[in-house]
Amino acid sequence: MPDMETIVSLAKRRGFIFQSSEIYGGLASTWDYGPLGVELKRNVKEAWWRTFVHQRDDMVGLDASILMARQVWAASGHEAGFSDPLVECKSCHHRFRADQIDTKACPDCGGELTQPRQFNLMFKTFLGPIENATAQTYLRPETAQGIFVNFNNVLTTTRRKLPFGVAQIGKAFRNEITVGNFIFRTREFEQMEIEFFVKPGTDDEWHRRWIQDCMAWYTGLGIAPDHLHVRQHEAHELSHYSKATADIEYAFPWGWGEIQGIANRTDFDLKAHTKASGKDLTYFDEEAKEHFTPYVIEPSAGVDRALLAFLLDAYHEEDVPTADGKSERRVVLKLHPALAPVKVAVLPLSRNERLGPKAREVYNLVRSNFVCQYDDAQSIGRRYRRQDEIGTPLCITVDFQTIDDNAVTIRDRDTMRQERIAIPMLALALHQRLDS
Ligand code: GAP
Repeated sequence: MPDMETIVSLAKRRGFIFQSSEIYGGLASTWDYGPLGVELKRNVKEAWWRTFVHQRDDMVGLDASILMARQVWAASGHEAGFSDPLVECKSCHHRFRADQIDTKACPDCGGELTQPRQFNLMFKTFLGPIENATAQTYLRPETAQGIFVNFNNVLTTTRRKLPFGVAQIGKAFRNEITVGNFIFRTREFEQMEIEFFVKPGTDDEWHRRWIQDCMAWYTGLGIAPDHLHVRQHEAHELSHYSKATADIEYAFPWGWGEIQGIANRTDFDLKAHTKASGKDLTYFDEEAKEHFTPYVIEPSAGVDRALLAFLLDAYHEEDVPTADGKSERRVVLKLHPALAPVKVAVLPLSRNERLGPKAREVYNLVRSNFVCQYDDAQSIGRRYRRQDEIGTPLCITVDFQTIDDNAVTIRDRDTMRQERIAIPMLALALHQRLDS
């Protein structure tokens, strides 16, 4: 596994992730996804949506707004309790999360620390021009509440029966006391969340099933199983709404870190919103002829953390033989084809007026189906290395023989094996290799 410096440097050099506001010296722990990063991020989200929404019969989607009524955050318990214990050094004034430091003295200068005080993590904002309590609300610290407050809307418009779930992908904001480890802990991030509504009493079984399904998603997209584990929360770690929570953790270079939580939120949120809004958020079971408040299993993943895990796990350095009998080091991102930002690169063997038009013809054919790059700059070897480093699964080489036999060479990123394919068979050959 690479160290963080290697991955941060590759991410910048190749246009995956840049520091935000860099020309002004950068804004701490905020990151911008560049041309390749945005493709990778979209692919992570699309793969998740495909697996958990489109390929299941018991799920639907939602896209709720980031700004919600302040009452939502009062009812959900976030206004009163979504906080971390903050301590400050009386000498250097550095601030720390009291639950993340082992010593009673300042980890930076040894100075005396203040008593912990609870610091609410929600970003305050105001709706409209007047900055008063009536206009105040928050940037959402989780996407989940958008699902709970739409429970009745989804139920009546889709006529769903339990068990069913609602999925949502979107930005969340937390004014974290400490941030760091690149995109692992930031103040603005993206979540992929599911609220899965079940009959009380079936919740433990569904919790178990969701942990398995989520683990399978990461390994199915190429993360080595021994780089993942499930960690059950101790009672003192549980959020105010949770009966049980399991974290999926990834073996990051600095140690195990949470990429996803799967909580049993019980009926906490629906009951809290029923009480605060006065609207009935129960479910009517037609067979049993009874109303009850469903329990909720909540698989909640971070897009940025998943993306970081996929990048780290895909990174490989290998020694490969060269034509002159020596060897050279290649960096290759062995990303799953569904995640790779570019699926295919079309490379004319050289810049040439006979090859160019033929290669463009192939490029136009391929890009109608796959995200594709055309590259004719520098030697073919260097172009292969460039594509390896950004994780492109397949390169198509157009050479002089192509003009005679109407065939091209497909090179596989991982095995580096090359195969000759007739252009009329190319689309099929690419689908066979890329579709999962
Ligand atoms: N709705 C439940 C919830 O928000 P969470 O464990 O606080 O649960 C879920 O967050 C996921 O969101 C985490 O597993 C993590 O992947 C991501 N996440 C949370 N805080 C984050 C932060 N400051 N930076 C990046 N990702 C974060």
